[in-house]
Amino acid sequence: MSTSTLSLIPIPAKVTSRAGAFRLTASTQIEASDALRAHAEVLRDQLRPATGFPLPILAKANGPRIALALDQALARLGDEGYRLTAGADAVAIAAARPAGLLHGTQTLRQLLPPAILRRAVAGKVAWSVAGVEIEDTPRFSWRGSHLDVGRHFMPKTTVLKHIDLLALHKLSVFHWHLTEDQGWRIEIKRYPKLTEVGAWRKDSMVAPRTREPSQRKFSGSPHGGFYTQDDVREVVRYAADRGITVVPEIEMPGHALAAIAAYPELGNTQAKHEVQTYWGISEHVFGVGDNVLTFVENVLEEVLALFPSKFIHIGGDECPKREWKESPAAQARMKELGLKDEEQLQSWFVTRIDGWLAKRGRRLIGWDEILEGGLAPGATLMSWRGERGGIAAAKAGHDVVMAPEKPTYFDHDQSEDQITPIRGMNTLADVYAYEPVPKELSAAEAKHVLGAQGQLWTEYMPDPQRMEYMAWPRLCALAEVLWSPPATRDAADFARRLDAHRERLRILDVNFYRARR
Ligand code: ACM
Repeated sequence: MSTSTLSLIPIPAKVTSRAGAFRLTASTQIEASDALRAHAEVLRDQLRPATGFPLPILAKANGPRIALALDQALARLGDEGYRLTAGADAVAIAAARPAGLLHGTQTLRQLLPPAILRRAVAGKVAWSVAGVEIEDTPRFSWRGSHLDVGRHFMPKTTVLKHIDLLALHKLSVFHWHLTEDQGWRIEIKRYPKLTEVGAWRKDSMVAPRTREPSQRKFSGSPHGGFYTQDDVREVVRYAADRGITVVPEIEMPGHALAAIAAYPELGNTQAKHEVQTYWGISEHVFGVGDNVLTFVENVLEEVLALFPSKFIHIGGDECPKREWKESPAAQARMKELGLKDEEQLQSWFVTRIDGWLAKRGRRLIGWDEILEGGLAPGATLMSWRGERGGIAAAKAGHDVVMAPEKPTYFDHDQSEDQITPIRGMNTLADVYAYEPVPKELSAAEAKHVLGAQGQLWTEYMPDPQRMEYMAWPRLCALAEVLWSPPATRDAADFARRLDAHRERLRILDVNFYRARR
């Protein structure tokens, strides 16, 4: 069997065929030390439902086996690298660190027939794995999927399913966009109204994409929802068990209207507002008083207790400055600090949070508007308005994550279908052709590019089905861009592998976009 007939996504760094094939049977054992037992259980739980095989876990197997082992000699493959060897008697998965073993087990799932993904015993399947030796390691550490649950709340089961899919594709970061003008989605014990008030809105805009109020059409139904802190703990742990870090985003100082609707004193005018029912950027943003900073820090204190992620996303995008220009309190704050404009005031706000997070051992990440008025010293930049912001930040020695609208905004159409009113298309081919390291960067500067991610802004994705339709298979392409060495990039081969991979997505009941032929 030639390696080119394998349908692995993302394609491994190095694949060599070997003679023979491994056959998973009722007598296969899983070999793992006590220290790796939890990982072996994950593997067993992945292989047992479809095969019905017992797959006992033993410290020392005495027959055909799938062996998991930590091997420091593989440290050269990095924290997430692994080696998988399949021969007649065994599949051996070895890695220097547990994250590598998780990726290796995902590769094994893709080496087996797609029916391995079924959740009940699949009859008459030969569970064979072609003889192969794989050495694999990711190109980038930040291989992300962003999901906006502010515009449309996505149920926890949808989030968990999405995380399973990210793991299957060896993606490493789930960027959970939790707060918006149109909804606050995370329980904060100290501020109950954030979810009592801020998680619910009276109506939702459906179309067209316009700023003209008289043209907006609405669904006519209320919308809302939030995750309790216990839900969040479940999601974070579920993701961690699958090698995925959940990076929370709490938007500030803009995109904060749901919080201001709950606590009007957080705004600039004390005016009462409702949670926004239409799309677009709200003019109503956080004030800059001590009360707001205390609020934000108190919220973040609860967020840090829930999310072990080193990176905490504070938004920072699209903060209109009109209210600050008109607010005597904001103007007085600028004067007191000797700031020359409102951009510098935003920079001061973000820098203060940067310092607060740094003191707690965390790192601030924000959208590229945080460059305006001066980038906070510890900030990592997420570049969405093209790559310019990312290039400037990397040149200034800051880490960056690439998230440019073209081609990583998956709220854009992927064909001429015009399923969304958002202008511009990002096709599967565009995503597959994406190069996350801009050529403007030197080799040293390029090291600041941690990776990239796909954005799911959900204004026009009212439910999980539509969200999946926009996400897949573009995330398959992005996963390969971010994991596999550039030399393996081959659009025709990817298309062939994706044809086979679609069967996996079908079995997993993913509502992926199906190209017309
Ligand atoms: C963004 O699209 N406002 C980050």
